[in-house]
Amino acid sequence: MKRATLTRFLIDEQYKHQSVPSDLRLLIEVVSRAIKAISINVGKGALAGLLGEHAGAGGANAAINVQGEAQKKLDVIANEILLEANEWGGHLAAMASEEMEGPHAIPHRYPKGEYLLLFDPLDGSSNIDVNVSVGTIFSVLKCPEGVTEPTADAFLQPGSKQVCAGFAVFGPSTVLVLTLGNGVHAFTLDRELGSFVLTQEHIRIPEDTKEFAINMSNMRFWEPPMKRYIDELLAGKTGPRGQDFNMRWVASMVADVHRILTRGGIFMYPRDTKDPGKAGRLRLMYEANPMAMIVEQAGGGASTGLTRILDVQPTGLHQRVPVVLGSKNEVARVVSYHQS
Ligand code: AHG
Ligand code: MN
Ligand code: MN
Repeated sequence: MKRATLTRFLIDEQYKHQSVPSDLRLLIEVVSRAIKAISINVGKGALAGLLGEHAGAGGANAAINVQGEAQKKLDVIANEILLEANEWGGHLAAMASEEMEGPHAIPHRYPKGEYLLLFDPLDGSSNIDVNVSVGTIFSVLKCPEGVTEPTADAFLQPGSKQVCAGFAVFGPSTVLVLTLGNGVHAFTLDRELGSFVLTQEHIRIPEDTKEFAINMSNMRFWEPPMKRYIDELLAGKTGPRGQDFNMRWVASMVADVHRILTRGGIFMYPRDTKDPGKAGRLRLMYEANPMAMIVEQAGGGASTGLTRILDVQPTGLHQRVPVVLGSKNEVARVVSYHQS
């Protein structure tokens, strides 16, 4: 059987649902091209001297990003690849990234478009140096009408307003997962052709699961509903759930979410009291929102524990949120424990 390339898929989607105007198609094609370039750099690793931390302005210490985290060389390279690829096509009004404090304006010499692009250029940075899967996450919003020089405020729209969301995982193969609001589809990079090829259509997350993903080392900082939920899973067959559960934690959200799309599961990065200034670990605008849209489009649930993630009204570009997502029935259970 001849499989569709990403280009063919996008054109077919436009015919079927009128969901991919040509500017959005260009945007997705450009992002996918940038993802190929990031994949090539990730694959080179130590051969090209790309592991380790990015030197700060002074040279000696690692550069620190707006999150207060040391930047890896590949965080910076992936960010630059996405910025450069998306500046000149005329499809964007502005970009925002985990690695930059404020929005990145489109230089005046280039045409401007109606979309806003947000990204986590490299997710799972702590896994780069140990050769474990990392990825890229992105979210697409419409620029509010009448806004010609978008500031952070233009980006502060709830996730339900996303017109497209996606992520790539750089694992044994490079896979791009995409939603335009009509289901979730996966494309595998054919390295010989240099094209993303449709390998899974209309992915569905099983409603039930026996597999959970959480960083257990934070347990002593969790709130009571989360502690109760995990205690019950750990109690296994002889506990209230009456069955054993298995645990997986890659520490790259892209890889953990990809596993859940493949065989079900629940992923949690809950609020904890480790740093009371932070409402969680993951960032709403370019981690939680795009993943929540993908998971919901695949029939799963995505909540903060109290609110549907896609309904959270953002107040800051780099705001953090608690995240509980994956198999519908397990997410609903966690939500019910928070309500009681
Ligand atoms: P990033 O590398 O973009 O900062 O994101 C890392 C995130 C996410 O991918 C992962 O699920 C989580 O941080 C890992 O957290 P721990 O280090 O607490 O395991
Ligand atoms: Mn991340
Ligand atoms: Mn990142």
